[in-house]
Amino acid sequence: MAFPTQVRLVEVGPRDGLQNEAEPIATATKLELIDRLGAAGLTHIEAASFVSPKWVPQMADHREVMTGLKRRPGVVYSALTPNLKGLEAALACGTKEVAVFGAASEAFSQKNINCSVAESLERFAPVLARAQEAGVRVRGYVSCVLGCPYEGEIAPAKVAEVSKALLDMGCYEISLGDTIGVGTPLKAKRMLEAVAREVPMAKLAAHFHDTYGQAIANLYAVLEEGVAVIDSSVAGLGGCPYAKGASGNVASEDVVYLLNGLGIESGIDLDKLAATGTWITQAIGRPNRAKVGVALAAK
Ligand code: HMG
Ligand code: MG
Repeated sequence: MAFPTQVRLVEVGPRDGLQNEAEPIATATKLELIDRLGAAGLTHIEAASFVSPKWVPQMADHREVMTGLKRRPGVVYSALTPNLKGLEAALACGTKEVAVFGAASEAFSQKNINCSVAESLERFAPVLARAQEAGVRVRGYVSCVLGCPYEGEIAPAKVAEVSKALLDMGCYEISLGDTIGVGTPLKAKRMLEAVAREVPMAKLAAHFHDTYGQAIANLYAVLEEGVAVIDSSVAGLGGCPYAKGASGNVASEDVVYLLNGLGIESGIDLDKLAATGTWITQAIGRPNRAKVGVALAAK
């Protein structure tokens, strides 16, 4: 395979990046973050999560976020919806794209969404059907594709099986989550090869957390295989509340720098993106985990 000529970035900072923050973040700050990301050229922004506020308190203002954001033409603002209750709430706010999230690990599925993998697929089926009826696209996540905090090693065949089930259900894209950032490049390639036998490469996205500092190397490996959609988080914000010790997603700034170096088009203004990373980390009192962001700010 060859590198893609163009890559679409899915910015998950406002959701994955912020969901784990213990201190409440003002809705106005989230809205400004989303707006700045749009101004930097991101065309797909995961803005909120319609999950239980008891489980993830930081996402409790999902309604205010989805109704308050300034919609820019050509930008998709999506939200997580684990069940019909979440989907109905998202639809009521005018959400045009949603995502369901499953896992390749039974133990993680139980901890994260309180049901088995099979039960999760049963729950997603009516979400897909209702979304289709409403003309809303659904993205499917698979967590723990390169390892699980509870089960350890995960078989690529299991990742492929869950990915295929989500595709068959109607998800337009499958995002492969290295939830705890334990993967390494060859492992990422092998996992991808197994999944790509069941799901066309054009429908796959890489969602790599950077816990062990391997995310950029892993992305290079899967880009070489033809993956053309990458999830990332400005300033490398984030972590999953049900994956202890997991750090943020790969930083969007670092991904854009990598793509620029490879001559791959992303349509993103790196300076604006880096300024957004500097701003949000100062606003919420977090270190900037984008190496490129820190380097550009020091110039
Ligand atoms: P449950 O307890 O099994 O569900 O939770 P339930 O149907 O029995 O409902 C229990 C309570 O939750 C009820 O309220 C429901 O109304 C409420 P009560 O009667 O106790 O007051 N409830 C809801 N409230 C708001 N919105 C909803 C909703 N559904 C039920 N949609 C549930 C099941 C999935 C809701 C729960 O487990 C949950 O919210 N989990 C949160 C999971 C989460 O957000 N995890 C982080 C995101 S996933 C991630 O980060 C990984 C990813 O980035 C990829 C990667 O990195 O690998 C995507
Ligand atoms: Mg994630």
